Amino acid sequence: MPQVSSFIVALATLLGHSLASDNGLALKPQMGWNTWNTFACDINEDTILGAAKALKDLGLDGYGYNYIVMDDCWSLHERNATGYLQYDPVKFPKGIKHMADEIHALGLKFGMYSSAGKYTCGRYPGSLGFEEKDADLFAEWEVDYLKYDNCHNEGQSGTPLISYNRYEVMSKALNNTGRPILYSICNWGEDSPWDWAPTIANSWRMSGDIVNVFDRYDDRCPCEDYICRLPGHHCSIMNIINKAAPLGQKAHTGAWNDLDMLEVGNDNLDYEEQKLHFSIWAMVKSPLIMGHDIMHTSEQTLRILTNRDIIGLSQGKWGVAYRSYKKEHSQLWVQDSTDGSGDMTVALINNGDKDNDFTIYFEDVFLDEWDRRKKKYMLTDLWRSVHLGTVKNKISVTVKRHGIFVGMLEFAEDPNEKPKIKKYHADSDEL
Ligand SMILES: *[C@@H]1O[C@H](CO)[C@@H](O)[C@H](O)[C@H]1NC(C)=O
Ligand SMILES: *[C@@H]1O[C@H](CO)[C@@H](O)[C@H](O)[C@H]1NC(C)=O
Repeated sequence: MPQVSSFIVALATLLGHSLASDNGLALKPQMGWNTWNTFACDINEDTILGAAKALKDLGLDGYGYNYIVMDDCWSLHERNATGYLQYDPVKFPKGIKHMADEIHALGLKFGMYSSAGKYTCGRYPGSLGFEEKDADLFAEWEVDYLKYDNCHNEGQSGTPLISYNRYEVMSKALNNTGRPILYSICNWGEDSPWDWAPTIANSWRMSGDIVNVFDRYDDRCPCEDYICRLPGHHCSIMNIINKAAPLGQKAHTGAWNDLDMLEVGNDNLDYEEQKLHFSIWAMVKSPLIMGHDIMHTSEQTLRILTNRDIIGLSQGKWGVAYRSYKKEHSQLWVQDSTDGSGDMTVALINNGDKDNDFTIYFEDVFLDEWDRRKKKYMLTDLWRSVHLGTVKNKISVTVKRHGIFVGMLEFAEDPNEKPKIKKYHADSDEL
């Protein structure tokens, strides 16, 4: 879809000042790999450069995965005498700048981590009150991305404005460096970041931390709804999906809801669950940041992460998906094209405990555009990569337990018969 993306780039340039944090980044949701889910605090130059080389050797950069993001625990416990952060010289004997250079030499980009608090979550020094110094140091190290956490924020949260003010300081500090640095806010959905982050950041976490569990209530992640006083952690895949469902309307070019890092390739989720997880993350245009042990990527993991059609739902001509309905054991999600083609993606989630047959009716697919319901479409199963022929009025599918059917509907009648496609989203994508 090169035409579409250059169109969006042109549009973004044109609209410049109204977009995101105005840094020209994340015109499509960012993709890459982050150290945390596999290595937690056990990071060093070898693990990070090893991961960068593995990403490259697997050819994942060819699918759009290009950020290597270093998470918490990279610094010393004290700032230096002039108040600057210091990297841990045991973990990084040649320094962070050297590591960034090596990552850049591979054609990849380098991401850094800090917290909008007194400390990071691992109790290393945080950036609250030191935003200018830290942003300057990150720019000097040629950082391309900042994941900015929410631990130890000294009570500077509780209303959207308080949180906005705290996160805006770093947004300005990054901008003042003159280096385009993707700004990824990680405040776990506290104080409704979807209402205030789009003008200062490229993405914002909308829930507590993910865990590699498909669907389980957990008091450590007590909220079932997107408005949440205690976001916590150990949030299951279905918990996050249910919270994200109404938030798609807040995302736009350069400003995305972040459903947290991918659990694809980590233990505990079966093949069906991982495909479901990856599909919805792509369809709602969450950043696609891998978190598995990339140096030991299995065939199956690679197959999921490199499905070009599913990645296309994130990076291609599609708007942000929304949920058409939620029943006890199933959900229907739809994703409209933004190129005027009238194509539509449908995704049927079977979150029940048995394989099941489902019928998807076009009245639930084309919610607002009645004349599109009456047309014929060519149906393609995007996970099996097979054309299923022409369909009208409804689709019948069998979906495995904890699985998903993702199908693309392409207009299959005389182009002159194509219904006029309404543009009802305010998103810049859809203008
Ligand atoms: C800084 O912000 C201005 C205006 O908001 C924008 O035009 C510029 O591209 C930004 N620069 C960087 C490096 O983010
Ligand atoms: C503190 O670190 C900064 C950035 O690396 C450096 O420029 C400065 O010289 C250091 N200050 C001292 C006292 O070592």
